[in-house]
Amino acid sequence: MAQKIVAGNWKMNLELNEAKDLIKGIKNSQDDVRVIVFPSSVFINVVAEGKNDNVEVGTQNFHTELKGAFTGELSISQLRSAGATVGLIGHSERRAFFSEGNDLIKIKVNAAVANNFDFIFCCGEPLMIREAGKELEFIKMQLEESLFHLTKEQMMGKVIAYEPVWAIGTGMTASSDQAERMHRAIRTWIHERYDHETAQNVSILYGGSCNQDNAKELFSCPNVDGGLIGGASLKGEAFCTIIDSY
Ligand code: 13P
Repeated sequence: MAQKIVAGNWKMNLELNEAKDLIKGIKNSQDDVRVIVFPSSVFINVVAEGKNDNVEVGTQNFHTELKGAFTGELSISQLRSAGATVGLIGHSERRAFFSEGNDLIKIKVNAAVANNFDFIFCCGEPLMIREAGKELEFIKMQLEESLFHLTKEQMMGKVIAYEPVWAIGTGMTASSDQAERMHRAIRTWIHERYDHETAQNVSILYGGSCNQDNAKELFSCPNVDGGLIGGASLKGEAFCTIIDSY
């Protein structure tokens, strides 16, 4: 069965004391739910030290090389030494604002796999693609170009987050029907490319204006294995309510 996950992407928000306060209040009382927070990299260390049990800390980004002359960048080994156990790859904000295309995202996937570093692979279509009715092809292409080159062994247990760009930070949450349709399609493609066992073992999270009011309905969809939460993860109480939606 796919692991249930609730992850909070804090993006470029919070200052040191706010990050310290927020992490103290995040508690995971669900044994079967994996909870991860993604603070700004500069705070990974203190957040990892201040977190409660059963909460993991991740990195919003990482460089593909382990060390060297890459001014301003952070490597998987550095981030791991600071307390990060997992990274985001392919977030739509990195695709849109930092020109990360499917080729670079594939290299990041390979770097993570080579260094045994967990990741959440993000995909999602912009509004124009949704309005043109081409969202299924678009997401399939993102997966084929950056993720589906992995072997079955590498793919087992991986995590994909479907985050429609039009739903991120807009309050326009995908309906549970829209989310379930895409998640079911993603699982079917994994089945076709790999097999039933792999498809059942990949977690598929929903992200995009998911909050304490709509999480329960979204998480009750058969193919939604949890959420990647932005805005609502910045409030401890709201985020804990989302964790407890299971
Ligand atoms: P919001 O929950 O603020 O829409 O952000 C979603 C997201 O981008 C998480 O990675």
